[in-house]
Amino acid sequence: MLVQQYLPKDLFRGKTVFVTGGGSGINLGVARNFAALGASLAICGRTQEKLDRAAAELAALSAHLGGKVLPVAADVRDYAALEKALGRTEAEVGPVDVLVCGAAGNFLCPAEDLSPNGFKAVIDIDLLGSFNASRAAFEQLKKTRGSILFISAGQSFMPHAFQVHVGAAKAGIDNLMKNLALEWGRYGIRSNTIVPGPIEDTEGMRRLSSPEHDTRAKGAIPLGRYGTVDEIGHAAVFLASPFAAYITGTVLSVDGGSNLIGSAL
Ligand code: HXC
Repeated sequence: MLVQQYLPKDLFRGKTVFVTGGGSGINLGVARNFAALGASLAICGRTQEKLDRAAAELAALSAHLGGKVLPVAADVRDYAALEKALGRTEAEVGPVDVLVCGAAGNFLCPAEDLSPNGFKAVIDIDLLGSFNASRAAFEQLKKTRGSILFISAGQSFMPHAFQVHVGAAKAGIDNLMKNLALEWGRYGIRSNTIVPGPIEDTEGMRRLSSPEHDTRAKGAIPLGRYGTVDEIGHAAVFLASPFAAYITGTVLSVDGGSNLIGSAL
């Protein structure tokens, strides 16, 4: 569904959106929806070639409204690299109005087989990476009175087997979001979380599901289907827009009601 059909086509014209993990999947879908509404994008990830491909797609969406796109490689676990990426963004595109903390890592592993380093890898990418990006973007967000969107997961509030590392990391993100909403509200910075449910055609679902699982899950989800990356993008543009100017510290599930059936998925 084209977001421009429902919202002002230039809603984010002149605004800069920085997306961690923006080279693919849900985060690229989020970036695409901002680009379609005129935003300039900085997308950050570990692999430059992947970012370059995504940037070409985004540029085609926003160029007619003057939007720029900057693909900038950085690992969210490396604070200095993120600071540099954000510095380049401010210099070449503009100060960040919207930060999307989407970079994440995942794999299925029973807790008794998970090594401390495996647990740490996911905590470092998801939780530490989200703090690093928020902290490194703070001065720019303060300037723009901007907002932060964290991408969490249902594992945060409902345990899922073989996901102890992800559940702990995502629960940490939800708490990080609330603390930043509390502390940075006085700077006009809003902070919110989106919890995507099962989203079709994403790396996360490829890692976590199987055809049998999909059939069972779709039958159990109240809306009877998986979501699309664009549906997460629609929630993101809403939360970052002036229509959500009084919304901060909120967790918004975009999951077809999946959270109502818990870990049965
Ligand atoms: C058990 C594993 C493992 C597995 C890695 N490890 N994969 N343990 N089962 N399948 C362990 C390793 O053995 C190692 O511990 C430690 O984790 C670090 O592994 P590295 O490969 O060195 O780490 P790194 O290269 O930093 O890779 C991070 C990663 C990787 C998370 C492990 O999978 C990754 O880069 N993922 C990014 C892409 C991704 O995951 N996308 C999906 C996101 S979707 P030892 O002890 O051996 O040193 C998502 C959505 C969640 O997050 C919710 C969905 C509903």
